[in-house]
Amino acid sequence: MKVLIIGSGGREHAIAEKVSLSNEVSAVFVCPGNPGMKKMIPEIKLEAISASDIEGLLNFAKKEKIGLTIVGPEATLSLGIVDLFRANNLLIVGSTQKASLLETSKSFAKKIMNEAGVPTAGFSEFFQAEAALAYIESLKNTKMVVKCDGLAAGKGVVVCLNKTEACEAVNALMKDKLLGENVDHIIIEDFLEGVEVSAFALCDGDSFSFLGTACDHKRLLDGDLGPNTGGMGVFSPASVYSAEDELWVNENVFTPMLSAMKKNGSPFSGILFAGLMKTRHGWAVLEFNVRLGDPETQVLLPLIEEDLLPWFRASAEGNILGLQNKLGSTSPKKLNLVGVHVVMAAHGYPGTEGVKVRSGDIIEFNKNFKPSNKDYLFFAGVEKSGLELVTKGGRVLGISSIEENFSKARKNAYDLISQIHFDGAQFRRDIGSGQV
Ligand code: AMP
Ligand code: GLY
Repeated sequence: MKVLIIGSGGREHAIAEKVSLSNEVSAVFVCPGNPGMKKMIPEIKLEAISASDIEGLLNFAKKEKIGLTIVGPEATLSLGIVDLFRANNLLIVGSTQKASLLETSKSFAKKIMNEAGVPTAGFSEFFQAEAALAYIESLKNTKMVVKCDGLAAGKGVVVCLNKTEACEAVNALMKDKLLGENVDHIIIEDFLEGVEVSAFALCDGDSFSFLGTACDHKRLLDGDLGPNTGGMGVFSPASVYSAEDELWVNENVFTPMLSAMKKNGSPFSGILFAGLMKTRHGWAVLEFNVRLGDPETQVLLPLIEEDLLPWFRASAEGNILGLQNKLGSTSPKKLNLVGVHVVMAAHGYPGTEGVKVRSGDIIEFNKNFKPSNKDYLFFAGVEKSGLELVTKGGRVLGISSIEENFSKARKNAYDLISQIHFDGAQFRRDIGSGQV
C-alpha cells in the first residue's frame, strides 16, 4: 500500500518513520514534508503540495493511487479533507470537518462534554465584551480562564489570576482585537488546579484504542517560565496515570464522547487527544484536540512496539465497509520503556511581543553525533540552503530517546542535543526532570 502523510513538522516526521517500518507499505509520500525527513528516511518521497490545498492533495492521492492518507495538522482537518477524501472513496485517518469542531470550537466541545457527562471546568460563553465584563464583575475575585472560541495558534487561552486580569484579557481579545478581527466569541472558565496529562485514543466513529499518554512542557523556559509555545518537550508515559486512571478515563471520557458525537450526527474518527487535568476531585478535561500532539507523537510512536499501519487502517475504515473492526477490543502493544523528547527551537521563537523569529541559521552536528537505535532525530522547521540544512523558524528539530528509565532517556537525549548546533538555538534543560 502507498501511504500519504500530510504536514511538515516533527510529528509528521515521526509518523513517516513509524509507517516506513511497516511490511504493508510500498511507498511513503509526505506533503509537503521537510528536507530533514528525507535526510533521515531517504526512501520517502516529498511532494510540494501545501497542507491547506485539499483539492491538490486529493488529485495527488488519486494520481498516485494512495491506499491510506494520514493527516497531521488540525487546520487541514478543519478544511474538510476527510469529507472530501471519503466522498472520493479514499481511506483517510482523521476527523470530519464537523467532528473537528471539538478542537476548532471550544463552546462546541464544552456542549458535547456536558451532553456526554464528561467532567470539565464550568463555563459561560459570550458574544459581546460588555456582557463578559459584567459577568466577571459578578464573580468572586478568583482565578479564571478566558478562551477564544476558535483556533488561535495556541494564543487564545489566558489564565487570569484575578478579575482585573480577566477584564484585561476580555478587552484585549474582544475590543483591541489583539488576535485579529474575528474574535467575537469567548468562553470564561473556572480555573482548575492539578497535574496535566495528554491522553490519545485512535477512533473509528464507534470504538477506540488507547495509544498512550505524555506530559508536555508548554512554556519556553526551564521551570515552566516564559511564554507559551507549541511544546518544548515531553516525556511519556505520564507517571501520574495509573492503570486505574486509564480505565476511568476510557470509561468516563473517551467512551461517552464517542457516543455523544455519534448522537450529534458527527461520529468521531481519527485521533482524539484529551488534554486532562488530575485535580483534587478527580480527572477533568481541559480541551480536546482532533489530531496527534506535537511533540507528543515523537515519543508516543517510538514507544509502540507493533506495526501501526493496520490500526490506522482500521480507524479509516471504521464501520463504513461493514468490517469487523480491530479498534475497541485491544490497543497496540507498547514497549515496556519510557521516552523523553527535547525540542530545539529557532532564535526568537515563539515570537511573542514583537520578537522576530529567525530563519537561515546553519544546523551542524558534531562528528561523534551517533544516535543509537533507541534515539531518534526528528526534523521540523528546516529547509535546504544549497547543500546545507538551515533553520526555518519555529521548532527546528527534536531528539527522542527511549530507555528503561527516565534518567537514562533524559541523559541520552541531552547528550545528543549537546552535539547539535545552530545560532540562537533555544531548548529547555529540564524536560522530564524529577521523573525516575
Ligand atoms: P487549552 O488550549 O484549552 O488546553 O489551554 C492551554 C493551557 O491553559 C492548558 O494546557 C492549561 O495549562 C491552561 N488551562 C486551560 N484551561 C484551564 C483551566 N480551566 N484551569 C486551569 N488551567 C487551564
Ligand atoms: N503539544 C501540544 C499540542 O500538540 O497541541
